[in-house]
Amino acid sequence: MTDKPFLTDVQELRRRARQHIETGAVTDAYRANRDTVIKLLNEALATEIVCVLRYKRHYFMAHGIHADPIAAEFLTHANEEQGHADQLAARIVRLGGSPNFSPEGLLSRSHSEYVEGTTLVDMIKEDLVAERVAIDSYTEMIRYVGDDDITTRRILESILAVEEEHADDLNSFLADIEKDWKARDRTAG
Ligand SMILES: [Fe+2]
Ligand SMILES: [Fe+2]
Repeated sequence: MTDKPFLTDVQELRRRARQHIETGAVTDAYRANRDTVIKLLNEALATEIVCVLRYKRHYFMAHGIHADPIAAEFLTHANEEQGHADQLAARIVRLGGSPNFSPEGLLSRSHSEYVEGTTLVDMIKEDLVAERVAIDSYTEMIRYVGDDDITTRRILESILAVEEEHADDLNSFLADIEKDWKARDRTAG
C-alpha cells in the first residue's frame, strides 16, 4: 500500500483546488500578498500606458535630420510598451484582480511622467528618464515578489530586460547625435 499516501495527497490536492476554484490560477502554494501584487501590477500597467502615449506622441512629432531612425525606434518602443501593458493586465486578471485602464488618475498611478518634449534630443532624454524610472521600479517589484509569486516575477523580469534594451537604444542615439554635433563643430571651425 505504498501508493496510498500518494493517492490521498492527489485527492486532497484536487479537493483543495475545487474548494478554491473561485481564486482561479491562484492556489495555496501562492505565498504573496495578492492584493499588494495586484496593486503593484496596476501601477506598472499605468506606467506602461503612459509610456505608450509618450512614445506615440514622440513618434508623430519627431523631425530633423536624425529623425527617421529615431522615430521608427519610438514606434517600436510604443508597441513593446503596449505589449507589456497587455501582459500585466492578463496577469492581474489571472490573479483574480481587475486591470485599471481608467484615464482618471492614470498619471498619478504611473511611475513615469508624460513629458512631451520639443526637440528630438529633449524627447530622447525624457524617454531615457522614463525608462530609468521603469527599470528602478521593476527591479524593486521583482525584489518584493521574490519567490512568493514566481510567474509574476518571471513576467516582471522579462519586461525589465526589454526596458534595459530601451534605455540602451536611447543612450546610443544621444551618443550618436553628440558625436555628429562635435564633427560638425570641427568642420565649421
Ligand atoms: Fe515597458
Ligand atoms: Fe520601455
